[in-house]
Amino acid sequence: MSPDPEPGPEYFEANLAYWQAAVPAHRRSEFYGIDEWIAEGAPPRPWEQAVLGDVAGLDLVHLQCHFGKDSLGWANAGARVVGVDFSPAAIDQAEELAERLGLSSRASFVVANVYEVPELLEPSSADLVYVSLGALMWLPSIDRWASVVAHLLRPGGRLFLHEVHPLGLIIDRSQDGWLLKGSYFETRDPMIETSEGSYTDGAESVGTYTTYAWNHSLSEVISALLRHGLALTHLEEHPWTSFARFPEMRGENERFETPADWVPMPLSYTLVAIRTS
Ligand SMILES: C[S@@+](CC[C@H](N)C(=O)[O-])C[C@H]1O[C@@H](n2cnc3c(N)ncnc32)[C@H](O)[C@@H]1O
Repeated sequence: MSPDPEPGPEYFEANLAYWQAAVPAHRRSEFYGIDEWIAEGAPPRPWEQAVLGDVAGLDLVHLQCHFGKDSLGWANAGARVVGVDFSPAAIDQAEELAERLGLSSRASFVVANVYEVPELLEPSSADLVYVSLGALMWLPSIDRWASVVAHLLRPGGRLFLHEVHPLGLIIDRSQDGWLLKGSYFETRDPMIETSEGSYTDGAESVGTYTTYAWNHSLSEVISALLRHGLALTHLEEHPWTSFARFPEMRGENERFETPADWVPMPLSYTLVAIRTS
């Protein structure tokens, strides 16, 4: 756990500017493939559903829901969903998509910073908190995030987290071989990146932004959840991730793998934890 006070709001403001600009391109992208997903019946990811089982009738809060694709997949599977994201552009798109899918009665969306959620959503109001890929890195303190998850969950309620692996976030390639950029562990100072566009196709229009991110080691995530009264029931490290982390990766159905002659490495992980107290 970081011993210093948390970094200030200027980092959130800079990150928000990037996310606001990225939403329209993401919504149109083949990467997110919204039209195909709707044609398939707008389901949740089958392998996530296999881990979680039947969600019908459950109250689900999706933290950092982006424009709501995953939130609405769960609503379609019968959950009552609240999606939270700090980007008004993302929430506008999520509401529009909910309307288009006829899911507005089962899915609502809130503009908020994750850390403000305890002021906006009732304690013990969720059976399931869902968080997926590319969420935790935008938060400076994993302990504070775990306190938000604990606030939301009823006793017996579950957290589902599928995230980029903290090693996958810092490992990189150069012509001389593998290298590590940044810290595996949570640090007070963010990793700073200035980049053009975004991670989806068609994002040339997004512009150039400087963003601020923080890594959280696997044990920091797990320990924070334990400190806040959750117990681990499922943990898997995957040698794949849902996007091409390196250009050499190949895959389909959101499962991209490294070439067979590379050293296998953890690129994402799935964790389920249950609130015990
Ligand atoms: C890569 S998306 C993750 C969601 C999902 N994997 C997806 O791709 O649709 C990251 C989301 O986190 C949101 N976000 C970043 N920092 C946040 C914060 N402090 N509070 C709330 N939302 C935040 C962004 O607006 C963005 O929509």
